[in-house]
Amino acid sequence: MSTVYISELKNYVGKDVTIRGWLYNNRSSGKIQFMQVRDGTGIVQCVLTPKDVGDESFKACDHLPQESSLSVTGTVRADKRAPGGYELTLKSVIIHQVAEPYPIALQEHGIGFLMEQRHLWLRSRKQTATLRVRAEVIRAIRDFFDSRGFVLVDTPILTPAACEGTTTLFEVTYFDDKAYLSQSGQLYLEAAAMALGKVYCFGPTFRAEKSKTRKHLTEFWMVEPEVAYAELVDIMNLAEDFIAHIVTRVLENKQEELKVLERDIKPLEKVKKPFPRVSYNELADSFEKWGHKFERGNDLGAPEEAIIGEKFDKPLLVHRFPMAVKAFYMKSDPTDQSLALCVDVIAPEGYGEIIGGGQREDDLARLTAKIKEHKLPMAAFEWYLDLRRYGSVPHGGFGLGVERTVAWLCGSEHIRECIPFPRMLYKIYP
Ligand code: 4AD
Ligand code: MG
Repeated sequence: MSTVYISELKNYVGKDVTIRGWLYNNRSSGKIQFMQVRDGTGIVQCVLTPKDVGDESFKACDHLPQESSLSVTGTVRADKRAPGGYELTLKSVIIHQVAEPYPIALQEHGIGFLMEQRHLWLRSRKQTATLRVRAEVIRAIRDFFDSRGFVLVDTPILTPAACEGTTTLFEVTYFDDKAYLSQSGQLYLEAAAMALGKVYCFGPTFRAEKSKTRKHLTEFWMVEPEVAYAELVDIMNLAEDFIAHIVTRVLENKQEELKVLERDIKPLEKVKKPFPRVSYNELADSFEKWGHKFERGNDLGAPEEAIIGEKFDKPLLVHRFPMAVKAFYMKSDPTDQSLALCVDVIAPEGYGEIIGGGQREDDLARLTAKIKEHKLPMAAFEWYLDLRRYGSVPHGGFGLGVERTVAWLCGSEHIRECIPFPRMLYKIYP
């Protein structure tokens, strides 16, 4: 007799198998019971009668609380009507633990309650589907860079200075000093790019975001490539290839999960290269034409991201923002010093910015001036300035937020469902 996973049942039709899992749902007509058992790979319906499993087991299963853990043994039958296409006619049941009354019933609950129960909520169908899509996105990310000759470089999490502005820093005590949780691996990655040419880092990043939105976490995962000798157009091409690759992979490998999530995949199927590209100034003109009041000089916000979502059915590459709204390390456009050689990628359907990046200032004097202008502590950036002293070259890269990408692909209402244990403003339990 084989102990198998529910996902493997198709190979065992007509045979006896054991499944180890948890009770998902139970229906009884007195003489016959239908138990739905899940094991992490799927859900299977099990049919029990007192004749087959014995009176004692039959009675023990009746009124067994949801999420009780159990092993079931029975014969696999193909049945088109059964969820998943297979059914088990049970011969025996071993109950490992009778669960206490399960707090998350199969009906709807409020989000506040579900967030408090996140450790249990993870077991539900939509949540496991989302986590599987996330795992596929991460695999696609690694495959993309690994197969293109990028070297993975792990950047530190404890850092002495800010990368993405001083307002969202998490400060921690570092012996007699203080340090900050990394907002981005970029600065270290620039050093690595000068050593290895093409590199990427992938890890958790931290921002003390004071805003409560459906797009912000305080701890999120970011993948960041950085390429020596790359200019803005190279970075835009890389971002386009990269996003197209992730979408293709999820559509190829995660159809089942997208179905569970009730995700309409037609909009995702449209995400084919090339993606539209507009400059910030062109976009501002368009907002005017569309009758949307947009203050030129401001960064794009949620209302602008929503409009872009309506007007474009592919990710939109917006380049050359005003320097004033971008980070200190951005290179300015030689044809208009007030503009940064940067690019943001805005996802369709209102999911907002998923990529931020661009070309880095590679001139020592200009970068030094920028650090002063942004009132950043010069001493903490001496090592970074060294990169402009010893063989400076044009270079650039970007960062893609994993959770925002997963939210878009899954059609999630809120980013909090796209990471196993979300951290948000004032929320750190469980
Ligand atoms: O645009 P950002 O701030 O860019 C950087 O950090 C650069 N240093 C990256 C680089 O060039 N190497 O962040 C990049 C992406 C955003 O586009 C977004 O997808 C995600 O990170 N992101 C967040 N995701 C969830 N919650 C937050 N609070 C996020 N802040 C940024
Ligand atoms: Mg950004």
